[in-house]
Amino acid sequence: MRRIRLSLTPNLAVEFVDRDLAMRRVEEWAERGAGFPKVVYGPEGCGKTAWLLQSVELLRDYGFDVIYINPIEQRFMAEAGVEDVRRRLVEILREATSDAWVRAVWVVIDLARELIRMRRGRLAVIVDDAFQAIDLDKAAIYVKGMLGLIEHPPELYERIVAIAATSEGVSRREIGRHEWSDIIPMWNMPKEGFRQLYDQLPGDKPGFEEIWRITGGNPRMLERLYENNWSVDKVVNEVINRNKLRRFARSLSSVKRAWLMEAVNDPDTLFARERIPLMDRLVELNLIIDDIPEREEYQWIDQPPPEKDEELGIGKYVAWQSPIHREAVKRVLESLK
Ligand SMILES: Nc1ncnc2c1ncn2[C@@H]1O[C@H](COP(=O)(O)OP(=O)(O)OP(=O)(O)O)[C@@H](O)[C@H]1O
Ligand SMILES: [Mg+2]
Repeated sequence: MRRIRLSLTPNLAVEFVDRDLAMRRVEEWAERGAGFPKVVYGPEGCGKTAWLLQSVELLRDYGFDVIYINPIEQRFMAEAGVEDVRRRLVEILREATSDAWVRAVWVVIDLARELIRMRRGRLAVIVDDAFQAIDLDKAAIYVKGMLGLIEHPPELYERIVAIAATSEGVSRREIGRHEWSDIIPMWNMPKEGFRQLYDQLPGDKPGFEEIWRITGGNPRMLERLYENNWSVDKVVNEVINRNKLRRFARSLSSVKRAWLMEAVNDPDTLFARERIPLMDRLVELNLIIDDIPEREEYQWIDQPPPEKDEELGIGKYVAWQSPIHREAVKRVLESLK
């Protein structure tokens, strides 16, 4: 399989590295069919899109027609035998409004049905970051549509793989209420894989161990650090400003601020009855991942995080998306003292 090249920043291309287990997962689906649609969630910037783009390559090698769409990054792929689909999507997207992308996401399900009718072969439908675009309350319906492709296809077909990815913890809650999909988490990169990405960055850079401690293996954070000349302050500030964390911290009572400070030291302290509403807010702000499943490989796409890692902010039940997210919250709380 060809390893794809990705642009880590506008002027730095890197080769896709690691994620061997995750690729093997896709291989299994390609060989045996996927059963339910797969909904993959994980920290923002942990590498879901990169993995899906590499998966497109793999699925093509397995003779699949592939439709990939990402309305947030405004990117789609539909090649090799699916020119019709391509043409229809291009027609919709010619409008170049964000609404056009939302429509395109919905149309993908109809187009997939048509493809099954026409070709009856192997089909992969990959929708990346679609739930943000179509509104969270419609995410479950969308997944039901994907399930419909598998369970009630318009024709007999050989094999269908349907994957959706999201970094919105909230959509996971929405979708999890129904048994229409397998919901599978993906974590930041494992240390050795992350090192292979770090090694591809040119120029003077801080030592690997330091970068690992700061990013926790999140490739987006590595990218942000590189873009900002390795200034941790700037990257932390980006998180504070983007998520409006100052406003958030001020909205909290002093008791909740204290709970939040405890969570900075140990995220598992949030996993207690009276603190769960606060935890939910942190999920909505994409700062933590809650209710993390057991660390058994079959429950995860790629390697699970460690059982607990205080330094990286990973608890048994709750984890900071990366040490930078935790640092952002910590700094905001300290500024209120
Ligand atoms: N395995 C990998 N090899 C090389 N580069 C990677 C890998 N995984 C991620 N990257 C790079 O790291 C950055 C963030 O990854 P990506 O966009 O895939 O994350 P994501 O989980 O899809 O983020 P979001 O939650 O925002 O959708 C990208 O620039 C991507 O190219
Ligand atoms: Mg993505």
